Amino acid sequence: MARRKYVVGNWKMNGLKSALGEAEAIFAAAGQQSAVDVALCPPFTMVGALAALPKAVVGGQDCHAAQSGAYTGSVSAPMLVDSGARLVLVGHSERREGFAESDADVKAKAEAALAAGLNVILCCGEPLSVRESGDAIAFVLNQIEHSLPDAFDADRLAIAYEPIWAIGTGLVPTLNDVSAMHGALREALRGRVGGKADQMRLLYGGSVNGENAAELLSAGDVDGALVGGASLSAAKFNPIVDAAAALAG
Ligand code: 13P
Repeated sequence: MARRKYVVGNWKMNGLKSALGEAEAIFAAAGQQSAVDVALCPPFTMVGALAALPKAVVGGQDCHAAQSGAYTGSVSAPMLVDSGARLVLVGHSERREGFAESDADVKAKAEAALAAGLNVILCCGEPLSVRESGDAIAFVLNQIEHSLPDAFDADRLAIAYEPIWAIGTGLVPTLNDVSAMHGALREALRGRVGGKADQMRLLYGGSVNGENAAELLSAGDVDGALVGGASLSAAKFNPIVDAAAALAG
């Protein structure tokens, strides 16, 4: 069975109530595209408001590994579910780097999210120094080996490969490098979960926009995109969804 294309927007720490119209326009357009799954991950404060929009599929950008407790400032997976979220990003490089999250932390968060009923997008990606040293594939496979939950349903967990040096910079890897990484990820996943790895969606993220989406989404083993900056407006995001739909036929 072919994997459905998946285009997900990560708003990061952007988005006030005044941005609801953009989300509304994104979900309305996505509702017209039957061959593509679309989701938006706004800040926690906006999850409930986005989830109330027609055709909405909404995710969190992170969750705590515990269900509740004395963790000031944190949000748990059951709280995301309670707010209307259906998925969550874990292990984004801005969490791994900015908040010192380890592979073990990411794994615990992914397991908590799955247990709460959320689908998971587990992020990975190498810094520039690792790309330049030629060790990017080994680095990313090591991240995945140690941050994947021990057990999961293949259709509830996607991987997003986001080279850190491509995030917000306008730089993108060559198509060969993207398909080499995604092919290596698929092979490693086969070693972990067997044939079910072929059902898992592997997203590319890092400076995806309306101009480069068709090309990036057509690279081998790329099943979708995780989009930062270009997901903040319908005018920039919808062409990426259109490109995915065109490839889905
Ligand atoms: P940009 O699309 O802004 O490069 O961000 C990518 C990203 O980090 C999505 O999670």
